[in-house]
Amino acid sequence: MTDKNQLIEDAWDIPEGVTYLNHGSFGPAPRPVREAQARWTAELQRQPMEFFVRRLEGLLDEACAALGQFVGADARDLVLVDNATAGMNIVARSVELQPGDQVLLTDHEYGAVRRLWQKTCQAAGAELIVRRLPWPLLEDDSAEQLVEHLVAAFTDRTRLLVASHVTSATATTLPIAAICQAASQRGVPVCVDGPHAVAMLPLAIEQLGCDYYTASCHKWLSAPFGSGFLWVRRRHQPRIRPAITSWGGSVGGRDSSWKDEFTWGGTRDPACWLAIPEAISFLEDHGIESFRDQTHDLVNTARRQLLELTGLQSPLPESRQWYGPMAIVPLPPNPDATTGHGHVDPLQRTLQQQFGIETPVTTLHEHRYIRISCHLYNTAKDIDHLVGALSESLPG
Ligand SMILES: Cc1ncc(COP(=O)(O)O)c(C=O)c1O
Repeated sequence: MTDKNQLIEDAWDIPEGVTYLNHGSFGPAPRPVREAQARWTAELQRQPMEFFVRRLEGLLDEACAALGQFVGADARDLVLVDNATAGMNIVARSVELQPGDQVLLTDHEYGAVRRLWQKTCQAAGAELIVRRLPWPLLEDDSAEQLVEHLVAAFTDRTRLLVASHVTSATATTLPIAAICQAASQRGVPVCVDGPHAVAMLPLAIEQLGCDYYTASCHKWLSAPFGSGFLWVRRRHQPRIRPAITSWGGSVGGRDSSWKDEFTWGGTRDPACWLAIPEAISFLEDHGIESFRDQTHDLVNTARRQLLELTGLQSPLPESRQWYGPMAIVPLPPNPDATTGHGHVDPLQRTLQQQFGIETPVTTLHEHRYIRISCHLYNTAKDIDHLVGALSESLPG
């Protein structure tokens, strides 16, 4: 075993008997990241006055600078938040909607995001429009068709488009730069829901042409749970309203900035954010491109074998254009499966209970998919186990 492989093997503590193929939902952090987080907590506990009052702002700046460089954004436009949900909630409080205004979402948006905008629109007397995207995406010009179809739903009342960079239920990389460009030509601001894209894809947020970008760093970047960010285009920053109202000024006596509302949201342990640079270094030391290649190759192996097993056609072609280290494979219909939040598909339960496999079964418009995520700790053995388990569990 090479030193590099050994390093990866030692970095995670996935329990014996568990085949973890769900980094896309909850990505466990590798050991160096957990150690960095623990060191920051220890420093805080040693001398809280020194840490909170005299050091914290500078430390958060350093974390933002490393993150900004990694995601292609000026650190002055980034604030650290708990997760993508928190970031999206801040956007929802800040966009001023009037009765009759419309917010447009794709039908692939994350359930909690859809619910947030439903409630936000309801409170403002605005209208939520959910646009069904062309699906499957098998034509050569699918990306163009998708963008055209989505922007055809714009009206003179559309105030915001919310679109995932990489979707949750369908693990699909949307052509987000083209979507943002088309929206900006029509004067519609875009909020990108981006938790899966961080580390999964090379990111240049500033170049995308979006207005807001929300993300969690605990998915593919494998930073600690509770580390997310919100990026806001400068022209919108004066209207951003935090979810938590606190002092709203610099603890250390600095010049005021829109970020002040977020730097101090009350007393809390910021170690999860301060360990973000370690998560970036961990992936960069491994080689970010080889991380992307390796995990995509592994998920493709699973995808090919499962498509062969089910005999069903994937809604996406085999291409890095449409997915990275996370992919879906269609499943045969199951009339007994109840869908929606809080309902675990019987197959997902069987995989976990009988085979120790953690991988979600997702749905879109009553179609069921198994969603497989591969990170650096996953191996061909995990895929063999999944394929074996599914060949035993699927009907016929
Ligand atoms: C597309 C998408 N958006 C938002 C979220 C919410 O992320 P979090 O729970 O980290 O806030 C998820 C979580 O899986 C997601 O897949």
